[in-house]
Amino acid sequence: MPKTGFSAYACLVFAGCFCCSKAMLTKLNQEAVNNRPVIGILTQIVSDEVMKPFGKTYIPASYVKYIESGGSRVMPIRLTLTTAEYKNIFRQINGLLLIGGAVDLERSDFAKVAKIFYTLALRANNAGDFFPIWGTCMGMQLLTVLVAGESLLTNTTAVNVSLPLNLTTEASSSRMFEGFPKELMTALTQEPLTGNFHHYGLTVQTFHENQRLQSFFSILSTNVAENGANFVSTIEGKRYPFYGVQWHPEVNRFQWDTKLNFPHSLHAVQLSSLLAEFFVEEGRRSLHQFDNPEEEASSLIYNYMPVYAANFTPYEQVYFF
Ligand SMILES: *[C@@H]1O[C@H](CO)[C@@H](O)[C@H](O)[C@H]1NC(C)=O
Ligand SMILES: *[C@@H]1O[C@H](CO)[C@@H](O)[C@H](O)[C@H]1NC(C)=O
Ligand SMILES: *[C@@H]1O[C@H](CO)[C@@H](O)[C@H](O)[C@H]1NC(C)=O
Repeated sequence: MPKTGFSAYACLVFAGCFCCSKAMLTKLNQEAVNNRPVIGILTQIVSDEVMKPFGKTYIPASYVKYIESGGSRVMPIRLTLTTAEYKNIFRQINGLLLIGGAVDLERSDFAKVAKIFYTLALRANNAGDFFPIWGTCMGMQLLTVLVAGESLLTNTTAVNVSLPLNLTTEASSSRMFEGFPKELMTALTQEPLTGNFHHYGLTVQTFHENQRLQSFFSILSTNVAENGANFVSTIEGKRYPFYGVQWHPEVNRFQWDTKLNFPHSLHAVQLSSLLAEFFVEEGRRSLHQFDNPEEEASSLIYNYMPVYAANFTPYEQVYFF
């Protein structure tokens, strides 16, 4: 059933009665499900010399496969569009993934475009228009910068190490881990299921000292960095469907470089699968849609060919733009 048609139909049936109030429509919208979601992924700026001949921005195919594996399609979003064009994209997609990388989190094009979508998403969610955002590694760091209004990141180096999560008490009542099998929750705290590849992060102390972060996010897990810093490794918005992981769930299933410490055990694969399914299910609650099938088709990642890159990057395949 067409989504806009659904609301219109409800309105027609109940025309004239109190049921047409905004609150009722919001409720109906929340119950409606979009089984053809499209998650946007912001392209990342190429900084590595060996990647420069292929394009100015890129998305490792591992992130695309991760989202696709949850039952969504992917729209790559370039960093060179106008604000009006981003607003138009926002009306059409059902969630946003901010990927890892290494760019300035306040001044880069990546950060500027992320801020546009973050602001639109805050406003939309406030108005009952559900829109989820997920940040992985630098994407999570960027979410903390956007919420705090400043960068509070410090050295929390954990590179090429797989770690179990030190889950907080809030993890057991979280949306992210809701419905995880008991055995997997136990494995998560005992087995090295999360691949870490970062130099910077948010310490638990900094998080608790910042009023904005503390009121916005719940900490679901922490970990200890190489320098002994206790850092925030998983967060979830208290009132907003915004999520962040300092680690890389996509590598568990979609990256295979033998020089890097990627978790590939059954539990590691299950963790990656369930988180992808969780985030896409959040996306199904968004009723944004493209104006027409042609625009949708031309926007999707299927129009691009990934490049084989295992011989010059840590990724097997990379999309360049
Ligand atoms: C786990 O976190 C708790 C605080 O939430 C802390 O007291 C404990 O030391 C941490 N354990 C490890 C192994 O990092
Ligand atoms: C962070 O700390 C680690 C471990 O103490 C150290 O080796 C590294 O040089 C530091 N990195 C930065 C960017 O300060
Ligand atoms: C990453 O860790 C693995 C396993 O601990 C090790 O074999 C490998 O040499 C490391 N790679 C790098 C680039 O440090």
